[in-house]
Parts: sequence; structure tokens; C-alpha cells
Amino acid sequence: MVINETGGPDVLSWEARDLGIPGPGEALIRHTAVGVNFTDVHRRRGDHHFLTPVPCGLGLEAAGIVVALGDGVAEFNIGDRIAYAAIPLEAYSDERILTAERLVPLPGSIDDKIAAAAMVKGITVQFLIRQTFRVEPGQVVVLHAAAGGVGLIACQWLKHLGITVIGTVGSEAKAEIARAHGADHVLIHGRDDIAGLARELTNGLGVPVVYDSIGKATFDESVSCLAPRGMLVSFGNVSGYIEPVYLSKVFGAESLFFTWAKMHHYIESRADLLGATQDLFEVINSGAVQIHVNQTYPLHEAARAHIDLEARSTTGSSVLIP
Ligand SMILES: NC(=O)c1ccc[n+]([C@@H]2O[C@H](COP(=O)([O-])OP(=O)(O)OC[C@H]3O[C@@H](n4cnc5c(N)ncnc54)[C@H](OP(=O)(O)O)[C@@H]3O)[C@@H](O)[C@H]2O)c1
Repeated sequence: MVINETGGPDVLSWEARDLGIPGPGEALIRHTAVGVNFTDVHRRRGDHHFLTPVPCGLGLEAAGIVVALGDGVAEFNIGDRIAYAAIPLEAYSDERILTAERLVPLPGSIDDKIAAAAMVKGITVQFLIRQTFRVEPGQVVVLHAAAGGVGLIACQWLKHLGITVIGTVGSEAKAEIARAHGADHVLIHGRDDIAGLARELTNGLGVPVVYDSIGKATFDESVSCLAPRGMLVSFGNVSGYIEPVYLSKVFGAESLFFTWAKMHHYIESRADLLGATQDLFEVINSGAVQIHVNQTYPLHEAARAHIDLEARSTTGSSVLIP
């Protein structure tokens, strides 16, 4: 699928393309399942720094089978099951060519749909909670959008690590889902006092970390949840971009830390990519984290998947089937 211009879901269109044969170090992949991420919506709309030069493809993650290999690829064979989280954005496709360096071998225990749903979102949770701010058992943390794709994986993984999770969601129905996946306290945006509960559960101190994918709408509240020297980990902008802030006033008042964390900086080397996926596959295989593919669409109906994601009507992960 391609977008020839940025805009609404209707800009997604089909195009037949001759892929040719894979060059040195590359693999031709036939997709079996393709993951949908909110980032795809940002790219399609051309939001701010997602100003993608068009025409371009879309989609960051998928699972599939290696159907042809270029010279010099020793790690994979034709017929291998693989998954990836990688650019260029061409995952919304039946087949594509990708550098083999970015492929991860898929263990027999992990189904293609699960892998397609988990690569970007699961690796994101891995780096957020094991690298960006490495949580320790007994801590209380705030996690926004707790019933979403990233959110449900994060709730379960945090719970598994002995963390008390304060999750936030947009509706009571989503609150139930987040609770069922390990969130200890679930609050509703615009209705509940998130910072108040964060302080109540921490002897008035505040939490050591807030994981915030909502951006503009939650920034002030996220800051007010933090303990002195706490960290605001920003990793998404679904509500819009955070307004410019007076750094010394906002972060200096309690010596707070701020980071805007991006997946590709955490999996730049092959060793980092394999390390993060190994951690992810372990928690999936042990049953500590279940990947919930709650929405499935035919690939050619990707526009419908975008409409649902933007309308906040999805929970867990969405997958497209070629
Ligand atoms: N930095 C990175 O490397 C990285 C990697 C992967 C994902 N992400 C980010 O992680 C976030 C979650 O991604 P996802 O694919 O798993 O999506 P998702 O969480 O399944 O969907 C987004 C959720 O955000 C909430 N939301 C709040 N305000 C919204 C608004 N104005 N419009 C739409 N949704 C709104 C909704 O939940 P409620 O209704 O419960 O509020 C919605 O379900 C996104 O911000 C994405 O860009 C970042």
C-alpha cells in the first residue's frame, strides 16, 4: 500500500510493483501478518516531524517467510520464519525486500500474528522499562493509554516485575481491560485526579517515572505525578506535541529528568535488536506477557484499521492479514 499524499485514511491505496531480486545482504520476505501502530497514523497524516516525503509506503512491523536471498546472507535460509521492526516503511505489503540485518528469526512457539503485533510494541516496552528507566520491584509507576497496544504489554510486563501500576485510559470499559492485565489502579482522563493518587500511594512523594505516549494533553499532569529526581519518559504524541516549556521552572523545581525515547535508537545495532527481542520472546514464552490481537483486518482494509485506532475504539493490538 502506498500514500501519494498525506491526509485521511482514504489516501491509502494499492499499487502493484515489481520488486526485482534481493541485492547483497538483502532478503525477499512474503508477509503473513502485518502490525498496525499509531505511528502509521502519524505518518499517513503527515503530523509535524512525521513529514514523510511522498509517495511512500507505510508500516514498521511484520512477520513472514524468507522467499529469496541476496548474496552474503549467512544467517537465514529460504523458508525461514522471521519478524521485524524496521524502516523503510513498507510493511503494508504482500512482499517486500529488506536488509537481512534487521530480521529476527521467529521461534516455533510464537505465532505470526503475535509476532506482527508484538515487534514494535513489545520492543518499545522492553526499552522503556528495562533501559530508559529501569524499574525496580516495589516501585509505583504511572502508565498512560494503559489499554492500548503498547499499554497492555506494559501493564503485564510491569506487573511481572513487581511494580504497582497506575494506568490511565479514556473510558470505563478500557479501565476494566487494563485492570485485567495487571494495572493495579486505573484512572480515567479528565475525570480522576491522577497526580493525587500517585502521591497517595507514595507517602506524598510522587512516582519515580511516568511513561507518557499521549503528549500535549497529559504533560502537565505527568510532571505533577513525579517525585523529586523522577523521570518523565515521553514516547508518543497521540494528542499533539508538547508545548514549549520553561525548562528550569518545570524540571528544575524538583530536579526532574525528561527524555523523548525512540525505538530505533535502542535497536540500532544487531546485538541491541536481538537482545531486546530475546527479552520480549522470553516474557511471551513464559506466559508473563500475553499479546492480545483484538482487531484483525484484511491488509487491503488498512484504512479501516486506521479509522478505528484514531477513534480510540481499539484495545490491545491490531493486525492486517495479507
Ligand atoms: N517512541 C517510540 O519509539 C514508539 C514506539 C511505538 C509506539 N510509540 C507510541 O506509543 C503510543 C501507543 O501506540 P499504539 O500503537 O500502541 O497505540 P494505542 O495505545 O493502541 O492507541 C492510542 C491510544 O491513545 C489514547 N489516546 C489519548 N488521546 C488520544 C487522541 N487524542 N487520539 C487518539 N488516541 C488517544 C487512546 O486510549 P484511551 O482511549 O484509553 O485514552 C488510544 O487508544 C503512540 O503514541 C505511539 O506513537 C512510540
